[in-house]
Amino acid sequence: MSVRNIIQIGNATLRKKSKPVVNFDEDLGALLDDMRKTMVEKGGVGIAGVQVGVLRRVIVVEVEEGEYLELVNPEIIKTKGVVKDTEGCLSVPDFYCDVKRPKYVSVKAFDRKGNAFTFEAKDYLARCVCHEIDHLNGVLFVDYTDEGKKYRSKFEVDV
Ligand code: CO
Repeated sequence: MSVRNIIQIGNATLRKKSKPVVNFDEDLGALLDDMRKTMVEKGGVGIAGVQVGVLRRVIVVEVEEGEYLELVNPEIIKTKGVVKDTEGCLSVPDFYCDVKRPKYVSVKAFDRKGNAFTFEAKDYLARCVCHEIDHLNGVLFVDYTDEGKKYRSKFEVDV
């Protein structure tokens, strides 16, 4: 298992759409292990494949202290409510702002072996899952607010 480099805002890869995982093989397991290790090492609570430069639809989130969940090809199937709270991102240094997110989400995904499951999250975990799924679509939390867009303009000219 190794800690990988996290790409930062301004790197065009972060704006690309990730492709679905097709092969649930050893490489996928190794990627997920590395993502978890990298996230823990960098002090994050969620990470997406694109952040380590792999354009595949995989995310890892911290469900509670020291407990992690891997979501492969995640899809939001239901949301409820809206909550505004502060977000940051391992790919967006030194910037935090309030973002509106669903209070509750239900997500369909696969585990690393290819077994389908559904997962429900609320409050901060729901926020985290939405933030990471956004990464898979090339979206960053700075896209949602004026102050975020102002920050973004220091790194990206044309989004
Ligand atoms: Co992020």
